[in-house]
Amino acid sequence: MQFEVVAGDVARVQADVVVVNLFEGVTAPGGATGAVDAALDGAIGKLIALGDIRGKTGEFTLVHTFGKIPAARVLVAGLGKAADFDVDAVRNLSANTIRFLRRPGIKTVATIAHGAGIAGLDAQACAQAVAEGTILGAYRFLKHKAPEKDALEIERVQLVERSNERVTAMTEAGRRGVVLAEATNLTRDLANEPANHLTPAILAERALELARANGLESEVLERADMERKGMGALLSVANGSHQPPKLVRLTYRGRSGEGLDLALVGKGITFDTGGISIKPAANMEAMKADMTGAASVLAALGAIAQLAPKVNVTAIACCTENMPGGGATKPGDVVRAMNGRTIEVINTDAEGRLVLADGLCYAKELKAASIVDVATLTGAVTHALGDVCYAIMTNNDGLAARVEAAAAAAGERTWRLPMWKDYDDIIKSDVADQMNTTKRGAGTIAGGKFLEPFVGDTPWVHLDIAGVDVMPAERGWVAKGASGYSVRALVNLALAMGA
Ligand code: BES
Ligand code: MN
Ligand code: ZN
Repeated sequence: MQFEVVAGDVARVQADVVVVNLFEGVTAPGGATGAVDAALDGAIGKLIALGDIRGKTGEFTLVHTFGKIPAARVLVAGLGKAADFDVDAVRNLSANTIRFLRRPGIKTVATIAHGAGIAGLDAQACAQAVAEGTILGAYRFLKHKAPEKDALEIERVQLVERSNERVTAMTEAGRRGVVLAEATNLTRDLANEPANHLTPAILAERALELARANGLESEVLERADMERKGMGALLSVANGSHQPPKLVRLTYRGRSGEGLDLALVGKGITFDTGGISIKPAANMEAMKADMTGAASVLAALGAIAQLAPKVNVTAIACCTENMPGGGATKPGDVVRAMNGRTIEVINTDAEGRLVLADGLCYAKELKAASIVDVATLTGAVTHALGDVCYAIMTNNDGLAARVEAAAAAAGERTWRLPMWKDYDDIIKSDVADQMNTTKRGAGTIAGGKFLEPFVGDTPWVHLDIAGVDVMPAERGWVAKGASGYSVRALVNLALAMGA
């Protein structure tokens, strides 16, 4: 789908449908809706008077124009109460709108910067949110299905802006929204991909394609490289699989001078059977998405390159399967990470922290000034927080606050979990420097506490996205299946660091 911001009058534009809006309680529409209403001889006003259009959130009314304007249809989208309306609502409305419009005869759409009128929201923020919501809402994963007979694909969406002065800045904002949403959709594609179609080797190849397309520096560490570096934790997870592990690094340099301002480290388990501590059969297929952290950091780096902030960022994707093969790690085995720390593997299903341990050590070796890791780490995070937000753990309040702000700007909710020293003991082992699970509850914090020793004093934030990475149903910008949570937050963080 093509998205663009154009100057013009939405009542005069050529499209299969024109989208305008209405706040709850408004009886005489103004702005763009008023202009379209006037061109339709007051049809929208009459529908309001009849009570057929009330402007409630989620209300969509399709009105036919019978040749009174160039567009054959007008869609009036309800915005709800003006006091509750914000940029997040614009993004969600745009996603719901594009889904509503997936019907015969609609290939081209004209819309407006919802929220930039009487709600008084920032016009650029609204343009970006319309772009993001539209492209996120149009997402579907159809790769492995027979093509539909009458594929209902919208080809073009134009955001029509009246004010010539505002168009340039809104075009830039719209482009930013497109880049952010397309990176999210790339993550969704990778996470939805079945594990037989996305092995560590294939994921590494996709990362290299992304690097080539965006002029990124790239490197793939093979098993032998990892052995040389002493990445015994990551390698211990790969032991049960026939698929070779890959550690992918992509680097973007947006400022002059050496050094890395930020390393993004992602868990890339292309399938998690649990290993010898094997998972139950029910819902195990969902574990094809256990590489979402890796996909998120890789896709974020592509978007960062396209938006070009003045910051140096690297992505490290720790990729392997977790399988119960003959060479697999056994409960009780002790393995050694790149920094020399030994780990007693109590449960081979707590594999994400093992691959991240070496990924974090590698970020330290590259001297990253700050580190954010992203992982579908614990089922426990769903018990704590459900599918509404993701968990944040940190050793640095300042960096955590920046990540929280970046997530909020993406319309993503986050929640901080405590990392008090009081929790240090829960991963203590009798035979090694630490163990990979806890027997004392606090499963998600145990994941954070496990990772903490591998970052030392580098400012670090850990995102446990296991509650939100795959969704049972659509919800505004969120797609059914892989959601793409955290991708836009990571890009926003790099943009803020490079501003
Ligand atoms: N990949 C899972 C976590 C997960 C569960 C993600 C459900 C998405 C949905 C992770 O590797 C795992 O298995 N964690 C274990 C840890 C436990 C053995 C300490 C868990 O949460 O049960
Ligand atoms: Mn697991
Ligand atoms: Zn896992």
